[in-house]
Amino acid sequence: MCSIIGYYGNEIAAPIIVKGLKRMEYRGYDSVGVATESNSQIELKKGVGKVEEVNSKIQLDALPGKIGIGHTRWATHGRVTDVNAHPHSSNSGKLAIVHNGIIENFEQLKKELEKEGYIFQSETDTEVIANLIQKNYEATKNVKDTIIKTVSELKGHYAFVVMFENGQLAAARFHEPLIVGIGKDSYFLSSDVLGFIEQTDNAIYIENGNFVIVDKEKLQILDFNGESIKQQITRVSKEFADAYKGDYAHFTLKEISEQPDTIFKAGEKTKEEIKKAVDYIKNSNNVYITGSGTSFNSALIAKQVFAKYAKVKVDAIMSSELQFSSDLIEPDSTLIAISQSGESADVLEAVNIAKKVNCKVISIVNSLTSSLARISNIVIGMNCGPEIGVAATKSFTSQVIIIYKIIEELCNGKLKIDYNEISESISKILENHAQIMRIAKEIKEISDIYVLGRGIHYPIALESALKLKELTYIHAEGIPGGELKHGPLALMDSNVFVIIINPNDSTYLDTLTSSREIKARGAKIIGISDVKSDVYDFWIEIPKTSELSYPISETIPIQLLSYYAAIEKDADPDYPRNLAKSVTVK
Ligand code: AGP
Repeated sequence: MCSIIGYYGNEIAAPIIVKGLKRMEYRGYDSVGVATESNSQIELKKGVGKVEEVNSKIQLDALPGKIGIGHTRWATHGRVTDVNAHPHSSNSGKLAIVHNGIIENFEQLKKELEKEGYIFQSETDTEVIANLIQKNYEATKNVKDTIIKTVSELKGHYAFVVMFENGQLAAARFHEPLIVGIGKDSYFLSSDVLGFIEQTDNAIYIENGNFVIVDKEKLQILDFNGESIKQQITRVSKEFADAYKGDYAHFTLKEISEQPDTIFKAGEKTKEEIKKAVDYIKNSNNVYITGSGTSFNSALIAKQVFAKYAKVKVDAIMSSELQFSSDLIEPDSTLIAISQSGESADVLEAVNIAKKVNCKVISIVNSLTSSLARISNIVIGMNCGPEIGVAATKSFTSQVIIIYKIIEELCNGKLKIDYNEISESISKILENHAQIMRIAKEIKEISDIYVLGRGIHYPIALESALKLKELTYIHAEGIPGGELKHGPLALMDSNVFVIIINPNDSTYLDTLTSSREIKARGAKIIGISDVKSDVYDFWIEIPKTSELSYPISETIPIQLLSYYAAIEKDADPDYPRNLAKSVTVK
């Protein structure tokens, strides 16, 4: 969840590292730090806050030297404090390290090191790696043997970059991403291509269980036994360089606004893969679908539309729960795994469980070079460009479109979805921010909001509640319309707002009745519908469309409402508190 970066080259390292960290900040952003090597000395600065903020306070980018490491943190071990921020130096001060992941046996290692006289300043597991490396380096006197010994002692998931005071860099990968960027006379060791995309588009995706050593402008890749590894250089897609806000105030608003176009790109470059996926699904006894957060909400939509349109039964299992209900997975089945990042630890674990019982894996991902893509049999690309805002917006609608494309293929030409209609409908909603901005002002002070939907609109209600809580910090809950009288009605009074998702389809009349029941208890109603009604205190109009366009159209106003309510509350919509874009730890 944190971002790590190392730079070895001919230019002053710190400004390059700070730029890279700004672009990777979506991975974690509670604190930041940089360390460089200059005249065989390690210089280090770090502090709590976002990159821009900390840099303007303590000038991270003014550190001297042409070799350096940097980090943005999403706290796992230890509070958000200056001391816990990375990089961490070892006791001797002769090396510094940045780390992403979790060291499961850090307490035991720490105790052993303390017995040998090592002193710890921070509460982190990372400082344990720093001192372990120091100890092993003092014993072996060379970087290669030090890393081999160190990784053999670590348990957990990690990627780290360590910088020695003689200017050598080493980085190891174990179930957390590590990518080497190869520039002109320079190397980058990074969690994400965004860390170096402005400098180079040549990259090597380090395989799991390998490490690298950079020294005197030479790069070595080795496995954890010390054997040399040959790996191909990949040309990274230039679209990653698109990760700029442009004229938009925030990435989130930009990404919401891109949806009239991104829905056309979903799955377009992987049409053959969609056909192959359908062959797998048709020939499989059981089909499961998994994901986390927003991606799981897409899985719930898939469950409904697969059954209704293609008559295919699909079981949707939340990735984080699958490990506890692995008995649900029949051997030799098909698992569809949805993940924007392709790096969510829970999703990767779910896939590994399914693979153990010989399931085929179809993944729906945005990042085609991600860990998930690499372990899948078939990869379908969302192709919606980098999504930097922590709240998933355009990736959600792209996931739904790919699901639609799969059911169209399953239906063998008998189902035709009008993607132009979907795109036009999104554009129309995007033209009218005024009403949504007014409602954002109304909800900014409230503490509870509910979102009600029936049938296919229930997963949209769940997704809406997730967006509202992430961006506005208001307690939000999705309610299946039919369950209202089985419990949630008890919560309705004049202090709450309820968003009613009520397009004019087969769910319309029942949902209108639910709205009246809620209104009778004094709650304020925000209706999202193509039909006006006196029951709504606020009406957000969506265009009248065909049935399968509604789930996407009705998502857009809630993305906008969550965004504008965050602005009203002075919360940062791109970087919600306590969250990170890519949840690479369990
Ligand atoms: C969505 O707004 C969230 N940020 C989060 O729930 C996200 O969808 C989840 O962590 C899964 O991420 P993935 O799609 O990259 O696997």
